[in-house]
Amino acid sequence: MDFSISQFEYRQRPPVTIPTPEFLELLTEEGIRKMVSDHYDLLSKSEIKHLFPSNEEALNKAKKNSADFFIQICGGPSYYLESRGKPMLAKRHAAGSITPESRIVWLKCYIQVLSKLNLPDDVLQLFWNYLNVFSFWMVNSKENYDVRFVKE
Ligand code: HEM
Repeated sequence: MDFSISQFEYRQRPPVTIPTPEFLELLTEEGIRKMVSDHYDLLSKSEIKHLFPSNEEALNKAKKNSADFFIQICGGPSYYLESRGKPMLAKRHAAGSITPESRIVWLKCYIQVLSKLNLPDDVLQLFWNYLNVFSFWMVNSKENYDVRFVKE
């Protein structure tokens, strides 16, 4: 597995390749929900915890929205579209400041979670490639300011 983190020029939006439906088929919806939940639990203890909800109810909502999105992007039911509408994720992430360094913390938390999944390397690699590139689209600031995205 190659979990390397690519660097891009600030404000660049490199082309993204969508993960394969096999990721969902093999991991199942429940597995994706657990993956997302584990990722949020790591984020809540990380250097970028200030960005995420600290209240349990808001955190659970965040986990649900994100898992709905990942299930949908892997070719599953359109849960996200139905509950939140069009993803427009870069726009949604503009609610707060995400620096290049925050992206790296976010990705490193994913490396910890993905390393524990029992999936074929090629399927996992495509999912990683997606996160690695698309996460750069969310970078919108060179400076951290302390803000929670979700009102609690
Ligand atoms: C660059 C690193 C990233 C950081 C620091 C970050 C941070 C955040 C924060 C603070 C929120 C709002 C709180 C919440 O609902 O969790 C959020 C929401 C979300 N993020 Fe990210 N994110 C990153 C990358 C990504 C990527 C790469 C994806 C998708 C592949 C993604 C998908 C989502 C989704 C679906 C939501 C919920 C949006 C909604 O409210 O409907 N994020 N993210």
